[in-house]
Amino acid sequence: MVPSNQPLWGLFYLSNSSQPFTIRRMIIKDYDKFIIGGLGGEKKLRGTVEIKGAKNAALKAMAAAVLFDGLVTIDNVPETKDIHTMSEILKSLGTRVEWKESTNKGTKVLEIDSSKITSTDIDLELAKSMRASVVLTGPILARFGKVSFPAPGGCVIGERPIDLFLEGYQKMGAKINLDGDIYKIEAQNGLEGADIFFDIQSVGGTETLMMVAVLAKGTTILKNCATEPEISSVAEWLNSCGANISGIGTTTLLIKGTDGKPFSSNNSYKTIPDRIEAGSFLILGALCARELQITKCKPDHMEAVINLLKKSGVSIKVGQEEIIITNNSKDRVPFKAVNVRTHEYPGFPTDLQAPMAVFLTQALGESSVFETIFEGRFKYAEDLIGMGADIKILNSREIVVKGPSVLKQLPEGEDLYAHDIRAGFAVVLAALVSKGTSKINNINLIDRGYQRLEERLKLLGADVRRV
Ligand code: EPU
Repeated sequence: MVPSNQPLWGLFYLSNSSQPFTIRRMIIKDYDKFIIGGLGGEKKLRGTVEIKGAKNAALKAMAAAVLFDGLVTIDNVPETKDIHTMSEILKSLGTRVEWKESTNKGTKVLEIDSSKITSTDIDLELAKSMRASVVLTGPILARFGKVSFPAPGGCVIGERPIDLFLEGYQKMGAKINLDGDIYKIEAQNGLEGADIFFDIQSVGGTETLMMVAVLAKGTTILKNCATEPEISSVAEWLNSCGANISGIGTTTLLIKGTDGKPFSSNNSYKTIPDRIEAGSFLILGALCARELQITKCKPDHMEAVINLLKKSGVSIKVGQEEIIITNNSKDRVPFKAVNVRTHEYPGFPTDLQAPMAVFLTQALGESSVFETIFEGRFKYAEDLIGMGADIKILNSREIVVKGPSVLKQLPEGEDLYAHDIRAGFAVVLAALVSKGTSKINNINLIDRGYQRLEERLKLLGADVRRV
């Protein structure tokens, strides 16, 4: 929550991992806001929402474009802020990046040509604004034998170290220097295949080392890999362009490198549907819609969330590429409390933890929400408590939500706040469920992951304005 009378600069909350709920003030810019008219618990929304391509897959395919000595096309790219940031970083290296219309109506294609890269230094300011930029360090290092980039530091959802990346680069023969807060990494004689065991299953770590290994000398074995569908889809695409990755979708990847030779093939990458966006709309449907059809999604990638919502009593029909919520009236038996424990794929995604907690404020009984991936992902809980939710924050990993609660707009003079992309969606949800009108600050964070959310919500009948 932030007071609404802040001038151009406002408040920003950042946790410190050793004192998880210490609140620290920082300056933020005066970003766009959402004004949302709440439904007061009614389920009045209805219609169809088409799911965009997964930003977390498209971002990695964009990074992988550096492995090619020529043109790469990426289809079904969501027009989110993170994609634009990645495109700016690529351009600052000398890459040509252009948006084109896709032959698939309503989607966009990115053309990326990395044949004339002039720099291996990742722009400091741009990199600091998006953690995913660290994934780009792998392809640059693999292709040019050197890269420099800023130490990412902590971020709003936790410390987010890069030790797994650095250990992997070292094992493959790179030398690492930290000059102030700039990492300078070099592998003058090229990178060698290695046997690498990840202590933690890391999405970015797996993707990055995989992208390094495809151009390295010899064979790399990556063990305890993350298995998120975004990783597999990029791996399959790289294979279609000449890479040799086996074990895709499992926790062990065996990769035979090209000995430094970049790829030249121009197979288009088709971005897979965004399972987190689809899950976000599914939870929104359960809370706010009488009927909702979610199309162009991949339900197979969403079993954990579909399963938990069904257990709680949400009526969901699952098709090949669509999910439908039907007959979801307010007068039905209330949803039941369920426990949530985030987990690497295929478990319950950390990125749906905050939206799910909003759902649980409307379910009968006591639910525990346990966050196993990131240690700083409960800041939104304060906002929900301010709106009337019965939530106990036990520690930086666990909250207990008791429902159902009547949510109301915050007291006069206080606004909601998007703490990160997904917590931002969660407060949008809370505002829609609640009685009264809410203002949400700092929605640039929501724009990082959801394409023009307000327009899509309006099509479903929601009262949402961007100011
Ligand atoms: N970790 C380390 N050392 C490392 C790398 C990671 O300790 O070198 C730890 C992290 O601190 C975390 C755990 O490993 O505790 C898992 O993090 P992971 O590396 O898997 O996360 P990521 O690659 O940084 C991606 C998504 C996140 C999503 C997580 C988990 C992208 C661009 N980001 O982050 O998405 O939450 O995987 O599924 O793919 C979002 O879209 O809103 C978002 C935050």
